[in-house]
Amino acid sequence: MTKQKTWSARFESALNPAIAIFNASIGFDIELIEYDLTGSIAHAKMLAKTKIISDAEAQQLEFGLEQIRTEYQQGNFNPGVEAEDVHFAVERRLIEIVGDVGKKLHTARSRNDQVGTDIRLYLRAQIKQIQQQLRQFQTALLVHSENHVETLIPGYTHLQRAQPLSLAHHLLAYFQMAQRDVERLEDVYKRTNISPLGCGALAGTTFPIDREYSAELLGFDRLYENSLDGVSDRDFAIEFLCAASLIMVHLSRLSEEMILWASQEFNFITLKDTCATGSSIMPQKKNPDIPELVRGKTGRVFGHLQALLVIMKGLPLAYNKDLQEDKEGIFDGVKTVKACLEAMTILLQEGIEFKTARLAKAVAEDFSNATDVADYLASKDVPFREAYNLVGKVVKTSLATGKLLKDLTLEEWQQLHPAFEADIYDAIAPKQVVSARNSYGGTGFAQVHQAIAKAKSLLDT
Ligand code: ARG
Repeated sequence: MTKQKTWSARFESALNPAIAIFNASIGFDIELIEYDLTGSIAHAKMLAKTKIISDAEAQQLEFGLEQIRTEYQQGNFNPGVEAEDVHFAVERRLIEIVGDVGKKLHTARSRNDQVGTDIRLYLRAQIKQIQQQLRQFQTALLVHSENHVETLIPGYTHLQRAQPLSLAHHLLAYFQMAQRDVERLEDVYKRTNISPLGCGALAGTTFPIDREYSAELLGFDRLYENSLDGVSDRDFAIEFLCAASLIMVHLSRLSEEMILWASQEFNFITLKDTCATGSSIMPQKKNPDIPELVRGKTGRVFGHLQALLVIMKGLPLAYNKDLQEDKEGIFDGVKTVKACLEAMTILLQEGIEFKTARLAKAVAEDFSNATDVADYLASKDVPFREAYNLVGKVVKTSLATGKLLKDLTLEEWQQLHPAFEADIYDAIAPKQVVSARNSYGGTGFAQVHQAIAKAKSLLDT
């Protein structure tokens, strides 16, 4: 290992090697290098604009920083632990490339505002990518929805059969969750896209810098108004992990349903070979590993949110080294959400097939039309609670005799209540039961068609 440098003339001996390793973040913050280079170029340009350095010097700095970018992209920039972090690693290499002028880059800047800038630039780009992925996920849901408006699926409350649904309506519930995720990220973006550059170590700087200019070069919407807040704020990262956690909640709920649907007990979907796995011992098995993994990965994203909240709680102003601990959780949160969105989108696109015959049988063979019998009577002026109690009795006797409601004769219906007429059979047929729930946002086919049209126009915007 190259000898650890001393900080400044103030230090007489190098860091203990184990402490150097403990202190270093280069092992993970190299992930920020492209953003660090971009941020430094903007800073150099600002220094030239304000005449703190000359134009020629700024050009040399930019040249050196771009060369480091190329070296990194070609796999030729691999700083070791003695560099401590990505910021020092870049500065050291810059000085090697451009000579003494490289030592001017850090004028009017601290690693505190630098790292804050980097992480915001990184997260900003990731938010856009995740929104894109959410759009693809929504599109995959929409394709199934369009194919399955009139495919019926049992609807559950308490995981007990409740009322039948249009399968499209069920899937569009996830579309709506994803829509909120897109919007939530849009909101997080607003508070991520604020420039801390120029806040210095904590108090600003004695140089006549132009924060507006560097912010504009980097595409930030506005500036942190307070330098202490600028260098120590990580609210945006917490908000991001919160939004990421909710995405994982949604993916995990869908995963859980897919796992149930693929079971022999439900048997609502077939898992295709390209997205399912086998067992090393049980030859008959086809396992839903993909949704299981997504469900399992949810925990780590929640964990990163919790960790960052705990890191921030009780931190005195301004920068404290605790903040170095923000990165790994953010990076892993981003990677996990992206990987899960990709996997779930592929699963929807090519990994599952709904067993429509089996679904049709399922909705025809239960009592999930019982509410409709009560509604039928209520529409004939029988008070709903009375109708509800009557139907409860029929269900009880039918369960005992092994009959379904559709199997009762008209006489049996009329013995129960004289208001029953021959149209009761239409009223309790599964298609009619679903189609009749035509209230706004309900599962009625007309509503579902409208919901699909709206969903499409959301994706077009
Ligand atoms: N590696 C540090 C981090 O990730 C960079 C900022 C260091 N600042 C400092 N004052 N030691 O937070």
